[in-house]
Amino acid sequence: MRIAFLGPPGAGKGTQARELAREWGVPQIATGDILRSAAAAGTPLGREAARIMATGALVPDDVIMGLIGDRLRQPDAARGSIFDGFPRTIGQAEALEKLLKERGEALDVVLFFAVSEAELLRRLTGRRVCRTCGETFHVASQPPQRAGVCDTCGGELHQREDDSEATVRRRLEVYSRQTEPLLALYESRGLLRRVHGEGAIDGIRAELKRATEAVAGRGGAAR
Ligand code: AP5
Repeated sequence: MRIAFLGPPGAGKGTQARELAREWGVPQIATGDILRSAAAAGTPLGREAARIMATGALVPDDVIMGLIGDRLRQPDAARGSIFDGFPRTIGQAEALEKLLKERGEALDVVLFFAVSEAELLRRLTGRRVCRTCGETFHVASQPPQRAGVCDTCGGELHQREDDSEATVRRRLEVYSRQTEPLLALYESRGLLRRVHGEGAIDGIRAELKRATEAVAGRGGAAR
């Protein structure tokens, strides 16, 4: 299955994609994580991406498509993938469709996480991320057992630079202008499934699995 998780910043895409990718044995392809790794490595691309990400704007489509092309050439992507936070412009969606077609593949389903703006702000300003393994926590709704310490690997938890309230508001504006139009695009292709993104993390995971299994049961979405 090739699945895209679509939704505003803070909708829970990463939280769910990490678990489901483990369970299904497919890679989670998260463009935000790939960009943050490049930034941490200090490559020229990473430095430029870090500058753009700190403002809440999107990294140019050609840069993102270069990263996706490289990632899809890795052997583990042959089994399928969960695209997390990608595509997020009409240009990226069209380029992905072309890239997958050249490989004899297609997206099977696009899962949209619906979450209110007040909840997105609450989640993002309270999010803490492990510097070592990338596991995500929330100070109130998903706290680590020891404050500031990752439950999974013992690494240090930190707040992402783009999770300040001002930058979160800018990211939400960018989302509604550049990414929301993808809902109509994928709806028109018959690929979009809406999931209620608020409530218990396990309950949302069960809903995502049901939506995905319904598509798999029909041998994939219409192509
Ligand atoms: P990216 O890293 O992709 O960030 P995002 O899309 O803004 O999404 P987030 O990671 O903020 O949120 P999420 O939906 O994964 O939520 P999470 O699970 O962490 O992108 C960052 C930047 O990189 C972009 O701004 C852009 O500059 C650049 N970029 C990335 N991809 C790009 C692309 N394709 N094109 C161009 N530029 C790109 O959850 C959030 C919090 O909520 C956590 O604390 C979590 O514990 C908590 N939580 C999760 N679920 C629940 C729940 N059900 N109830 C309560 N709390 C919950």
